[in-house]
Amino acid sequence: MRVLVTGGAGYIGSHTLLELMAQGHEVCVLDNYSNATPEVLSRVRSLSNGVIHDYVGDVRDADKLDEVMQDFQPEAVIHFAGLKAVGESTEKPLYYYDVNVRGTLTLLHAMTKAGCKRIIFSSSATVYGEPVYLPYDEAHPTNPTSVYGRSKLIAEQILTDWTAATPDATAVLLRYFNPVGAHASAQLGEDPKDIPNNLMPFIAQVAVGKRDALQIFGGDYDTPDGTGQRDYIHVVDLARAHVAAIDYAETATGARPFNIGTGQPYSVRDMVAAFERACGKPIATKMAARRAGDIAAMQADSGRANTELGWTATHDLDAMTASTWAWQSKNPNGYEG
Ligand code: WQD
Repeated sequence: MRVLVTGGAGYIGSHTLLELMAQGHEVCVLDNYSNATPEVLSRVRSLSNGVIHDYVGDVRDADKLDEVMQDFQPEAVIHFAGLKAVGESTEKPLYYYDVNVRGTLTLLHAMTKAGCKRIIFSSSATVYGEPVYLPYDEAHPTNPTSVYGRSKLIAEQILTDWTAATPDATAVLLRYFNPVGAHASAQLGEDPKDIPNNLMPFIAQVAVGKRDALQIFGGDYDTPDGTGQRDYIHVVDLARAHVAAIDYAETATGARPFNIGTGQPYSVRDMVAAFERACGKPIATKMAARRAGDIAAMQADSGRANTELGWTATHDLDAMTASTWAWQSKNPNGYEG
């Protein structure tokens, strides 16, 4: 299929390009490089030996989208382009709604004009909010606690309404848990621009000597070791979920959410211990207060994705930490070398 990938130069987007091309799909990237570098596409090109059409532009730019639609004539769109920092979303709510909600709307207008009726949307487990029960399944109430989470939920609702009003349209809403890890080549990985907000890139930067110590945000949660538990998912498994979603969208219609996780919860201490095994050195930690807005534990029930998308995660925790360490140690300054 011809697949337009917005945000294709980003962390998840770049891994997804490789998996799409490996399955014979033709790809085109639209990225504004606000949180990515063109070096990513050079690396994806050399790893795949394939053709990547690419455009520099913003998903809120209707003229640019029309141009891409006309040139590339996508049969499906995977929509990654968006903002994802929970803390920043509280400080800049209008910016988050503008990019994440208006971006999605502008894209849907352009798709409608071009007759493209399949979209895979980059959503998040954060749409669920405080757990009423665990593991979360897709029927769990949605009550996001951040602007970021609400912007994802609003975009999901817009996509759902669009499919209801558009015959044969499909929106696959992939609710990611905590993506980590890197490509087996160690050529692609997560490259946060400032101080990492997320656990895994922070641990990796401590291991490589860029940060002194990991602060553990809270040791008094109601979990076996007192630290927060999450459902970490290898980025290559996540990328493959998008390929499975493209196959599903070929015949399915309507909007459908899918949890994309492993179902296996790991604590902050589990992650530190696993990373120490991968890098062979101790990771310095210090206990800190709970981070505002954090919940104790969450994990996915991904049974729906297993049965309906035919997708399952195959990478375990050691694969997640080993690939992160390979990427970080070979690229201590990310894509800058
Ligand atoms: C994981 C655990 C922290 C950093 C966020 C978003 C979510 C998704 C993924 C998507 C928690 C602890 C962290 C540190 C720590 N984003 N921690 N020290 O908060 O589960 O999810 O990222 O686009 O929407 O909310 O992930 O990696 O920040 O935290 O102790 O320096 O690690 O308290 O228990 P989170 P995280």
